[in-house]
Amino acid sequence: MKRTYIKDLHNHSGEEITIKGWVDVARDQGKMAFFDFRDVTGKVQGVVFGKPEVLEVAKNLRPEWVVAVHGIVNDRNDKNAKEFKTIVEETGVRDFFIKDVEIEITGFEILNKAETPVFDITESTVETNEEVRLKNRYLDLRTARMQENMKMRHAVAKLCRDYLDENGFLELETPILTKSTPEGARDYVVPSRLSPQHFYALPQSPQQYKQLLMSSGMERYFQFARCMRDEDLRGDRQPEFTQLDLEMSFASEEDIMQMNEELLIKIVSELYPEKRIQQIPFPRIPYAEAMEKYGNDRPDIREDKDDPNLLAFCWIVDFPFFEKTADSDDPQATGEWTFTHNPFSLSKSEHVENLKNKENIGDIIAAQYDICLNGYEIGGGSVRAHDPEVLKSILSILGHSDEKIEENFGHMLKALGSGTPPHGGIAWGFDRLMMILQNEKTIREVIAFPKNGLGRDPMMEAPSTISEDQLNELSLELKEIKKPE
Ligand code: AMO
Repeated sequence: MKRTYIKDLHNHSGEEITIKGWVDVARDQGKMAFFDFRDVTGKVQGVVFGKPEVLEVAKNLRPEWVVAVHGIVNDRNDKNAKEFKTIVEETGVRDFFIKDVEIEITGFEILNKAETPVFDITESTVETNEEVRLKNRYLDLRTARMQENMKMRHAVAKLCRDYLDENGFLELETPILTKSTPEGARDYVVPSRLSPQHFYALPQSPQQYKQLLMSSGMERYFQFARCMRDEDLRGDRQPEFTQLDLEMSFASEEDIMQMNEELLIKIVSELYPEKRIQQIPFPRIPYAEAMEKYGNDRPDIREDKDDPNLLAFCWIVDFPFFEKTADSDDPQATGEWTFTHNPFSLSKSEHVENLKNKENIGDIIAAQYDICLNGYEIGGGSVRAHDPEVLKSILSILGHSDEKIEENFGHMLKALGSGTPPHGGIAWGFDRLMMILQNEKTIREVIAFPKNGLGRDPMMEAPSTISEDQLNELSLELKEIKKPE
């Protein structure tokens, strides 16, 4: 028989239907058996009575067994059902656990059995040992809270896709096996079999490729891009994370900021109507003011920090382009200046001459903007240097020799010199945005399969050793690790 989703059962009152899903709760009451069944769309009560042969099967069913349930949809009229109906009438919202109908069970098919889950998945697992959750992530993801986090992640991504599509953006993919891009973190590297002793780097962001797409005349690009950075982990940092990455040709700082602001407002008003944005247009705070007033460049400007539905967006602008290396950790530079954000940025137009002439370096302000939300940096971008001479000058201020510039950035300089339009863009930390929208404390709660605090996946047991054969194929030999004495 055709499958009916649990959320649609109320449209089949009195009819014979089949649902497919999981046993959420099983209650054996002797001559009767009660169940809650669950599928991806909802939860419903089912009951067996007066059918000895069905009851026989029912008594064996355990939580998390996968079943097809045949039965008749009956209207319910108890107190819970009445409350449910009132809420639906008043709000139009049908809760996940539907209470206006139940299933009078006429038969079962057991599609798969299940071992008793290692933790209770009918409750939120937010307090459950995280290592155990990650090791059994497929169970953890069955909980109502995690299902909701994944569904909303999908809904927000879809809204962004639709919006960007309507605004002329092309969704394009860029390589994962690539060459190191200086973003300030350590690279993950991948050995090459075909080019022995050579390595790909996994992208820290698609920065160079998205700019090269502007050189390629694509004009507007976006991507939900996987970025890999080998850095120390925190609640809002994963070694592998997702950016909503975009780039626009012929766009000013103002164009890019306004469009992103519009998209963020649309996400909140359409998908989180219960939330309130503190101030529109989003306030713009110069970097120096943020540092002086709040002591950091991702200030939490909420008027009421106890309100889970308050969203205080702000832009941080007017960043210094360069800072002394002592204050930062650019692994590539040898000189005393390093970039604060992105070596491919442009300065404010009034400082371009200083960039070209390498004068008043400490005073140069970048055409860079960060977007912050409730104390987190959820995105950052800039207008880029599209003149190869300006980029060369920036790289030289950063201490790269002419030889190194040619070796590492020759392809970018050549592309910029081949008729690249003025352009700029931004990347959102998509996981961070979702964490805040879903009122979660870490980005691990909004990522299907995150890594633990040591950068490991306890379920797949990655990273892992590889065989001698694989090492040989890659011309690799492992060094002995010196144990601390
Ligand atoms: P940036 O390095 O600022 O810019 O990254 C953009 C946004 O990505 C998020 N983010 C992270 N999220 C989770 N885990 C991490 N390890 C992590 N690192 C960064 C932050 C950050 O604001 N190419 C430029 C963007 C551009 O200029 O267009 C870039 O990657 O929310």
